[in-house]
Amino acid sequence: MSTPIISPSILSADFANLAPTFKMLNQSKADWIHLDIMDGNFVPNISFGMPVIKSLRKLSSKTFDAHLMIEQPERYIHNFKTIGVDVLTVHYETQIHLNRTIDLIKRIGMKAGVALNPHTPVSLLKDIIQDVDLVLIMSVNPGFSGQKFIENTYQKIAETKNLIAQSQSKALIQVDGGVNQENAPKLVAAGADVLVAASYIFHHQDPLEAINNLKYF
Ligand code: DX5
Ligand code: ZN
Repeated sequence: MSTPIISPSILSADFANLAPTFKMLNQSKADWIHLDIMDGNFVPNISFGMPVIKSLRKLSSKTFDAHLMIEQPERYIHNFKTIGVDVLTVHYETQIHLNRTIDLIKRIGMKAGVALNPHTPVSLLKDIIQDVDLVLIMSVNPGFSGQKFIENTYQKIAETKNLIAQSQSKALIQVDGGVNQENAPKLVAAGADVLVAASYIFHHQDPLEAINNLKYF
């Protein structure tokens, strides 16, 4: 079992203190930084957008992993590339032409991910899995940090792993929502490659230790 990629979600960080937060993340064993973009339509919450990401880009050279919880994300793909996003993930549920969206994300030089809501079956990815770099399995309903982990996620990870094995795909499996020290080893054992966590890391008394707890067990 290899060590997972850890992608802290800054959604639970103190937005008045992002510079010190990024200093901490730069010193940490975090591999990526997860940016949750919400539009108040696809999900019942609004987070932050491009000007914030553009400023944060100056504070870290770690991989910027943007999770778009927005309607019609295809409208903004070029903008996310311009401001320095490395991995761009769109929700399956927002897409009519997913193949076209994935193709554009990759063509302009980003890694392309597709996210599934808890109720969206993995089997729907059968004809796109070979084209994506990442599958994001939501283990809570998107919109908020601090929610309870949905146990059916293990089953979905296993199904995604099977789908990847049956295709030419090299997609990474990312899990997002309710990830903590207790479920991280089980998620990795089930096949998760990338763990996202917000509240577990940023509500921990020592976020550096929390990141280590997710990565090394
Ligand atoms: C939820 C976001 C998650 C969230 C995770 O819509 O996609 O990335 O920040 O928060 P925790 O780890 O607290 O569940
Ligand atoms: Zn997320």
